[in-house]
Amino acid sequence: MQTCPPEFPSALGVLLLLAASSSAQNEGWDHPTCTEGVVSVSPGKHVAMSCNISNTLSRVTVTLFRLRENKTIFQDASQGRFSRGDWQLWVQGGVAQLLIEGVRDSHAGLYMWHLRGRQRNNRYITLEVSGATVSGNAR
Ligand SMILES: *[C@@H]1O[C@H](CO)[C@@H](O)[C@H](O)[C@H]1NC(C)=O
Ligand SMILES: *[C@@H]1O[C@H](CO)[C@@H](O)[C@H](O)[C@H]1NC(C)=O
Repeated sequence: MQTCPPEFPSALGVLLLLAASSSAQNEGWDHPTCTEGVVSVSPGKHVAMSCNISNTLSRVTVTLFRLRENKTIFQDASQGRFSRGDWQLWVQGGVAQLLIEGVRDSHAGLYMWHLRGRQRNNRYITLEVSGATVSGNAR
């Protein structure tokens, strides 16, 4: 059977028109927003960094750039919860959150977030781990 229902092409045409007109209205931009600037924590603390977009995230890649080594921590993570070593990534809807419990020096660096929703965007968050634990001599 090679017959195609006659209504099929026009239904497809309407869908394409709808898709074209909705993107023409500039709707559907991801507008990524992330934790801003430099996140600074003391060793041993917990830290959360997050990014969100106004659409659903389809893929999230998090790469840590350090002086001597770059490391992709999560590659093309989709919706759900993921963990790798000390890092946990939680992607739900348009929100992606990266958690580290018990921060150490080796977690510091520049985190590049590659966010795929309807567009692809890169955002950067710097994590600083304060070198010395502040002890008795705080004043
Ligand atoms: C998205 O990020 C912005 C900026 O960090 C924040 O104010 C807002 O609450 C976030 N929205 C969600 C749903 O997490
Ligand atoms: C890390 O990645 C950056 C940007 O791609 C590159 O310039 C740098 O040389 C890389 N560093 C190492 C140690 O691979």
